[in-house]
Amino acid sequence: MAARVIDGTAVAAALRAQIAEQTAALPFTPGLAVVLVGDNPASAVYVRNKDRAAQGAGIAAQTIRLPASVFAKDLMGVIERLNADPEVDGILVQLPLPDAIPPRPVLEAIDPAKDVDGFHPLNAGRLQDGIDVLAPCTPSGVMRLLAAAGTPLRGARALVLGRSTIVGRPMAALLLAADATVTIAHSRTVDVAQECRQADVLVAAVGRTEMVRGDWVKPGATVIDVGINRLPDGRLVGDVAYAECAAVAGAITPVPGGVGPMTIACLLDNTVKAALRRRGGRG
Ligand code: GUN
Repeated sequence: MAARVIDGTAVAAALRAQIAEQTAALPFTPGLAVVLVGDNPASAVYVRNKDRAAQGAGIAAQTIRLPASVFAKDLMGVIERLNADPEVDGILVQLPLPDAIPPRPVLEAIDPAKDVDGFHPLNAGRLQDGIDVLAPCTPSGVMRLLAAAGTPLRGARALVLGRSTIVGRPMAALLLAADATVTIAHSRTVDVAQECRQADVLVAAVGRTEMVRGDWVKPGATVIDVGINRLPDGRLVGDVAYAECAAVAGAITPVPGGVGPMTIACLLDNTVKAALRRRGGRG
């Protein structure tokens, strides 16, 4: 039987509408500042989409554009100014940064209370401890898609393919917090296919075109594809061989239209949460 398709575009639209309703009822306007360094074209598109989505959800968004040649200390100065600005509830520094600027000190300079990406080590550590924090947006989006698909997590075997700071590790922490039995597979895992075959929930986040094949998927499993890879002909495909896996899975996300739209919606959600927490309400 063909898998159910999990429609990330629809789930994200519903979440954005819910956030817009929430912000309309607030006595203040949550503020989001996005810092874009350099002229990476993909980053420019992401940032424009974030800006547009924020405005549409009743969030005051500003984008601060800095040249690739900016000195790290000047970038730090911008972050300090945003940390001190009472109208700014969320700060996001778009990655990747130019090679000359190491990202760690920059991410660590962001006030953890305004860290809507959830990349500050304090928030990353709290997340690993199972504490309710501003969690990274892509894994949060995956959790919402699993909820929308009705996939049970308690006691389920979850396999996270990829161990990145942005997706794999926080993804594993969120699944663990939901009582799944979690395995992280990575480039040194001995038999990735065999690990995948055990999984009731398979989250692929490795950035390798169509790596997950149909015979890696347990029949009926929920397959979430975080990958976005551009083929030479311009088409976007995920880390999952979609047609093969959809023939075996119980539910699956497409690329595009799966996880992608959720990331921005969860960023808006984190911004409102940060605003409520900072301004004395509930988050
Ligand atoms: N670049 C790609 N994904 C992300 C993300 O989630 N946050 C930031 N800041 N940069 C990114």
